[in-house]
Amino acid sequence: MSISGVLRIGHINLRVLDMEAALDHYTNILGMKQTDADDHGNIYLKCWDEVDKYSVILSKADKAGMDHIAYKVASEAELNTYAQRIRDYGIEVAEEAAGTLLSCGPSLRFTLPSGHVMRLYAEKEQLGTAVGTTNPPPWPTDYPGIKAHWLDHALLMCELNPEKGVNTVARNSEFMRDALDFFLTEQVMVGPDGDIQAATWMACTNTPHDIAFVGAPKSGLHHCAFFLDEWYDVLKAADWMAMNNVKIDVTPQRHGITRGYTIYFFDPSGNRNETFAGLGYMASPDRPPITWTEDQLWRGIFYHTGEEAGEFTSVYT
Ligand SMILES: [Fe+2]
Repeated sequence: MSISGVLRIGHINLRVLDMEAALDHYTNILGMKQTDADDHGNIYLKCWDEVDKYSVILSKADKAGMDHIAYKVASEAELNTYAQRIRDYGIEVAEEAAGTLLSCGPSLRFTLPSGHVMRLYAEKEQLGTAVGTTNPPPWPTDYPGIKAHWLDHALLMCELNPEKGVNTVARNSEFMRDALDFFLTEQVMVGPDGDIQAATWMACTNTPHDIAFVGAPKSGLHHCAFFLDEWYDVLKAADWMAMNNVKIDVTPQRHGITRGYTIYFFDPSGNRNETFAGLGYMASPDRPPITWTEDQLWRGIFYHTGEEAGEFTSVYT
């Protein structure tokens, strides 16, 4: 259920080094299907339980990472309202004609304080889910891999340097709240006085997060996550990854933050993916945000061990 005029995450445009390897990963591991390609060689894919034409765009590049992230808004009127509100906030907005994003209506393009490019759009061609809307079975039989339901969220690494007075986690979060009607669900507060907002999880729906920001020396993409039903699906997904020699970063785990069941793994270009399962909890703007203190930060991330894991925070694209 959407709570703001922003309905949900729409898509993520990932830069990949080897298109053939990337396509194999997002189809045969994640279980997405290619729905289109364009004249620039970009590949468009959707998950079986998504109605819109695509949620992932793969673009060939020399360096991995995220080109942009897009959110879908409820109507073109909402889109116009957001264009004004983003400008009023002090951020420049490029208004893009229909078709700038493949199979989409007009879109807005702007840059978050962290430097990440975000787009909003109200219309995207709909192909429907793989099971249809009349007497649908609970899952499709002709999808490979882990059969991810949908692109669920992304976590962006945002430049944080308190000594220089730079905190784009806090600036992004304020912008998402004040201009785009997202609300804070969880945060990590650090520093001697616990007053530095080092990470935030924010929602526009009633899931625990539709986007997250984590402080880092430089901005980038930490991961994009795909939804699975439950814990057993997470276990089987990890099995499938191992059978196919996918590089797993973190084996099945429970998050303290958001309470999700997770696996972290990498696509062949080094972009981190996640599977995220479970409801977590029913998020709502009137539910007080949860705060994690600096000494319990790793308990928040990996609830069972409560310990820093490998290069989880230092390796990202
Ligand atoms: Fe995540």
